[in-house]
Amino acid sequence: MAGLYGLKILLLCTGLIELAICGVDTTSAGSTTTIPPAAAVAITTKPPSIITTPLNSQTASNSATPPPITYQDKSNFSIPSPTQATKNANDSTGSQTKPTPPKCTYRVELVEYGFQIVFNGSNSDTYNISYRDESRQHMTVEHQPLVNSIIEVKSLKPCSIYTVMEIQPECELQGNRTLRTKTMDDLELSTNIKPGYLCYVTKWNISDAEWNSPVITWDQDNCFQLSDEHFCTNFTANVAVPGECSKNISKTIPVTAENSTVKHSPILEHNNKIPVEIVWKNKPKNCTPQDLDIHYTCEGNNGSINLSDVEPFHKYNCSGKITHNSKVIITKFIDVEIKCDVTITTQVSLKANTSISLKWTKQISNCSPKTQLFQSCVSCRTETQVEECYTTNESHQDFYGLKPFTNYNCSIQPRYKRTYYNSLKIVSTIIKTAPGIPDKVKTNLNVTYTQNNAFTIKCEALKSDQWKGNDNLYIAKITGSETTPQKLKNCFFTFEDLSYLTDYTVQVRYSTFIQ
Ligand SMILES: *[C@@H]1O[C@H](CO)[C@@H](O)[C@H](O)[C@H]1NC(C)=O
Ligand SMILES: *[C@@H]1O[C@H](CO)[C@@H](O)[C@H](O)[C@H]1NC(C)=O
Ligand SMILES: *[C@@H]1O[C@H](CO)[C@@H](O)[C@H](O)[C@H]1NC(C)=O
Ligand SMILES: *[C@@H]1O[C@H](CO)[C@@H](O)[C@H](O)[C@H]1NC(C)=O
Ligand SMILES: *[C@@H]1O[C@H](CO)[C@@H](O)[C@H](O)[C@H]1NC(C)=O
Ligand SMILES: *[C@@H]1O[C@H](CO)[C@@H](O)[C@H](O)[C@H]1NC(C)=O
Ligand SMILES: *[C@@H]1O[C@H](CO)[C@@H](O)[C@H](O)[C@H]1NC(C)=O
Ligand SMILES: *[C@@H]1O[C@H](CO)[C@@H](O)[C@H](O)[C@H]1NC(C)=O
Ligand SMILES: *[C@@H]1O[C@H](CO)[C@@H](O)[C@H](O)[C@H]1NC(C)=O
Ligand SMILES: *[C@@H]1O[C@H](CO)[C@@H](O)[C@H](O)[C@H]1NC(C)=O
Ligand SMILES: *[C@@H]1O[C@H](CO)[C@@H](O)[C@H](O)[C@H]1NC(C)=O
Ligand SMILES: *[C@@H]1O[C@H](CO)[C@@H](O)[C@H](O)[C@H]1NC(C)=O
Repeated sequence: MAGLYGLKILLLCTGLIELAICGVDTTSAGSTTTIPPAAAVAITTKPPSIITTPLNSQTASNSATPPPITYQDKSNFSIPSPTQATKNANDSTGSQTKPTPPKCTYRVELVEYGFQIVFNGSNSDTYNISYRDESRQHMTVEHQPLVNSIIEVKSLKPCSIYTVMEIQPECELQGNRTLRTKTMDDLELSTNIKPGYLCYVTKWNISDAEWNSPVITWDQDNCFQLSDEHFCTNFTANVAVPGECSKNISKTIPVTAENSTVKHSPILEHNNKIPVEIVWKNKPKNCTPQDLDIHYTCEGNNGSINLSDVEPFHKYNCSGKITHNSKVIITKFIDVEIKCDVTITTQVSLKANTSISLKWTKQISNCSPKTQLFQSCVSCRTETQVEECYTTNESHQDFYGLKPFTNYNCSIQPRYKRTYYNSLKIVSTIIKTAPGIPDKVKTNLNVTYTQNNAFTIKCEALKSDQWKGNDNLYIAKITGSETTPQKLKNCFFTFEDLSYLTDYTVQVRYSTFIQ
């Protein structure tokens, strides 16, 4: 009975487990040789649990004589369990037949100046994003490229609610599609964008904001042209941004001067005066001397000098350096040439036949600080003379050694620092010296007897320049006669009714004096 049972167990055992447990029954006589090959056993599909329990109990009962174990225990692990095998097969077939692409999802996130869409598992390079703002106005931005799985939508309106309606190609939204943009913190007013204009700068789109107090209308560049009264004042405005995000903004408007083509760049003018002053003609009326520290310098032949050192009659290029708003503005250059006016008036001049005493007055206008530096260069000369003038600080000058009864051109030339400049007016006057003694001219007297007691005397006429005076008369005086001297315009005298055989002496004189 035990032998039969033992065989039964052995068979079962062989089918299930080749070695260890079944080794118990090797004690049965002759039974070891009857172990059939494993292939012959047909009970493999039976669940082992049903068998093992009685087997174990049976083994325990036979444990009095345990046989030596000749097989490795470890081989227990080499047998794959039926469940393991089935699972492995399932896995391998599953991965080959079921393609599951990563699912595209996106989130809408708030960023500065707008929102961004953050993708996960995107399989497109660009997306069309359509969104709308509070006014329910739809906007679509097409073909936005992904950068690091992100698409940014910026330049939106601040403090506004935006809703992402749809994106194409499709992708699944995760989280909230609606958000409220941030407040505007970057708004600035700038005068550097367009000369002469004030512009606002922000990365937000505030085209629908209202600018109040004052009301401002901006051009397409977000600028408006400044006018005179804006400069050197604080420009303030209230920006009414919808969404209760209004702001107050203020800027001190600096003078625009860099560019001469700009309307408000300084137009400089100088007075024609020493000390010279430069006036900024179009200086904005609200700019005070505290706002504008102006320093003018002038470029002349001797380099750069201060405006206060400008000399009259020299050409300079002057420009202003305006320190304003801790910025330096160099104005364009203006030509400066101060021409002082000198008015010379000749006074009554005393004249003798060989001298002239010249007197004049000198009036200097526009250059009063330099009065002492003006001289006069005077000369009195005849038409044919070439005579240097004489420079004097006085206002009178005597000329000696002149010819009597001669026209002298007396001129007074104003000079500055002993130099004559073309703009200075020369005053000249013709002064004729007083009549003098006619030249002593040796002339032959031709005596012609007309009767025994009468004769005529004829002489050569004096040349006009030999007379030295007007009222030219020939005076003939005969000795030994009571007759008064004859005074004639021509040198032709007739002497009659003389005594016979008497010597007479006739003297002929030239006279320029009325006698
Ligand atoms: C055989 O394997 C089972 C399950 O892994 C384990 O519980 C048992 O102890 C092992 N038997 C031997 C003899 O190692
Ligand atoms: C193995 O695959 C079959 C059929 O595909 C299925 O019924 C079974 O549940 C799978 N087993 C496991 C463990 O996945
Ligand atoms: C992308 O999605 C997967 C699956 O939903 C998730 O495990 C992963 O963390 C996500 N990655 C990011 C960056 O959110
Ligand atoms: C994006 O918009 C353009 C223009 O409407 C359209 O031609 C294109 O097909 C759109 N792309 C997707 C992915 O919908
Ligand atoms: C989405 O965001 C908006 C605005 O921030 C908020 O009013 C709304 O309650 C949010 N919705 C959800 C589902 O969180
Ligand atoms: C700014 O917003 C207005 C409408 O509010 C729109 O017409 C305009 O095109 C926007 N400008 C830019 C640069 O996006
Ligand atoms: C303009 O504003 C500045 C600083 O806010 C202030 O110092 C200055 O006095 C103001 N100027 C005028 C003219 O109001
Ligand atoms: C802007 O200025 C006005 C008047 O000065 C004031 O009533 C208002 O509260 C200010 N607004 C902001 C946002 O500061
Ligand atoms: C002056 O303005 C004109 C026109 O606005 C511009 O072409 C020129 O470059 C400017 N010059 C300087 C020095 O800024
Ligand atoms: C220029 O310098 C020279 C030499 O120092 C001087 O003689 C001359 O008067 C100067 N000219 C002017 C216009 O200042
Ligand atoms: C101009 O005047 C300033 C101040 O009076 C003085 O410091 C400077 O040296 C002067 N420059 C010249 C070139 O005379
Ligand atoms: C004087 O008479 C001589 C001889 O008759 C003559 O040659 C001469 O020219 C006359 N002179 C004058 C001044 O008439």
